[in-house]
Amino acid sequence: MRDVGKKDILELLELAEKIETGKIKPDLSGKLGALLFFEPSTRTHFSFDTAIKKLGGQSFSMSGTSSTSVKKGETLADTLMTISQYADFIVMRHKVEGAARFASETVDIPVINAGDGTNQHPTQAMLDMYSIKKTQGTLENLTIAMIGDLRLGRTVHSLAEALIPFKPKFYFASPKHLQMPQYIKDELLEKNIEFEEIEDIKPIMPQLDIMYVTRIQKERFAVLEDYEKVKDAYIVTPEILSNVKDNFKLLHPLPRVNEITVEVDDMPYAYYFQQAKNGVFMRQAIITKLMNLKY
Ligand code: CP
Repeated sequence: MRDVGKKDILELLELAEKIETGKIKPDLSGKLGALLFFEPSTRTHFSFDTAIKKLGGQSFSMSGTSSTSVKKGETLADTLMTISQYADFIVMRHKVEGAARFASETVDIPVINAGDGTNQHPTQAMLDMYSIKKTQGTLENLTIAMIGDLRLGRTVHSLAEALIPFKPKFYFASPKHLQMPQYIKDELLEKNIEFEEIEDIKPIMPQLDIMYVTRIQKERFAVLEDYEKVKDAYIVTPEILSNVKDNFKLLHPLPRVNEITVEVDDMPYAYYFQQAKNGVFMRQAIITKLMNLKY
């Protein structure tokens, strides 16, 4: 997210809105996208695939390495170099922080980061921004709580950085060892963005425009016992939402485990499945911009 400014973000949001409303129809025909998912994914993988096909392009996919030559010891660099001989752009998710940047410096075709370890998930942040703008009518001066695993969950790192130019007020609620990384907090301090780290979310509920809930990232814990201690730290129920503002929306990048009960799904505040749908429009916009498509 540090590579794009407010102007780029607004341009992508406008592009996504024009694609969603059918005002423009960018053309990706004749182009091939490689979807390289070294880590599991449902939404990012299939929404990118959907976006490519809706733009008239084609794709090929990898889900895990079990049926690839990575199993024979091929390096990431060699895999990427080979894929770049076939495809016009790469969408890549990898467990190693910085893997997408490494890929972008290795091949001479565009690379989109679809999540790198615990670091960043910028296309998720962009679809979150689109969802916030759609539901609030603005991105400026909103009060936003991020709750759950703020250290290992990469989506909140990207979203916090994306929101900086729009002057939000943040509340961060997490178990003690899963707090927002210091480098993000330092960036917020440097840019004079107000934030508060809290434990109890009940008192702040009436102030919020957005609550962004995240899953405790079980797969990134070295010791399962440590996960068991924090896995139920925050569970959003209808009772917790009893005194929120009319414009309040509940977002979650998904997948969810138990951090939002299914009873919440039918409430007008629940927006996480529409949020996932917004991912297709935003990913169409990102591909359009990156591939300089005509429309
Ligand atoms: N939000 C998100 O990244 O979901 P997936 O892991 O299913 O792609």
